[in-house]
Amino acid sequence: MYGVINKSLKEMVIEQFGMERWESVLSRSGVPADSFLSMRSYDDECTYALAHACADELQIPLPDALRAFGAHWVEHTLNNEYSTLVTATGSHLVEFLENLNTLHDKISSTFLDYRPPSFDIDQTNENHVGIMYTSQRQGLTPFVEGLLLALGRRFQQEVEILSVEPQAVTAGEQTYFVLRML
Ligand code: HEM
Repeated sequence: MYGVINKSLKEMVIEQFGMERWESVLSRSGVPADSFLSMRSYDDECTYALAHACADELQIPLPDALRAFGAHWVEHTLNNEYSTLVTATGSHLVEFLENLNTLHDKISSTFLDYRPPSFDIDQTNENHVGIMYTSQRQGLTPFVEGLLLALGRRFQQEVEILSVEPQAVTAGEQTYFVLRML
């Protein structure tokens, strides 16, 4: 994945637990690079190794580490580095989610050959939104949970995730989420 993702994970560990903790995470992960160039693509294994090492070092389950990373990605990386793009993508949560594929498409001229996920939205009624997440990768559903809850906070729309339903697919991962607007 692009370095911007690994860089954000590193920032999360340093901000919340300090530099020494990051150094332990890095050495556990076996990833040789300590600095990540945002615009360089790294092997996916690098990101997975860092996430696993983070969970091991902090003695938390991997899904919890991925949820925390989802929140950090929205609250820090998106709000600081991409706030103009985020604001232009939607003025409320559902509109933003509906435009998320367009957002990922728009930046494909910056992130060449990247493999973003897709999000298909169906609003079942005014209080419930269904979101089909489709990825070429596996294991990132908890990351999406963290992203969705943090996006709710970003748009001042309190939400709860009512259900997380894994779909049967032959490659990658597909998950159907139902969000309830509170
Ligand atoms: C301006 C905002 C955003 C930028 C610049 C951005 C950029 C990226 C980049 C570079 C990747 C790595 C893909 C690769 O290297 O192949 C990625 C992956 C991903 N993005 Fe975005 N993204 C943005 C917003 C969002 C938002 C708001 C969500 C919320 C749901 C999201 C969900 C994901 C997920 C889940 C992945 C992991 C890859 C996968 O599931 O296969 N992104 N994004």
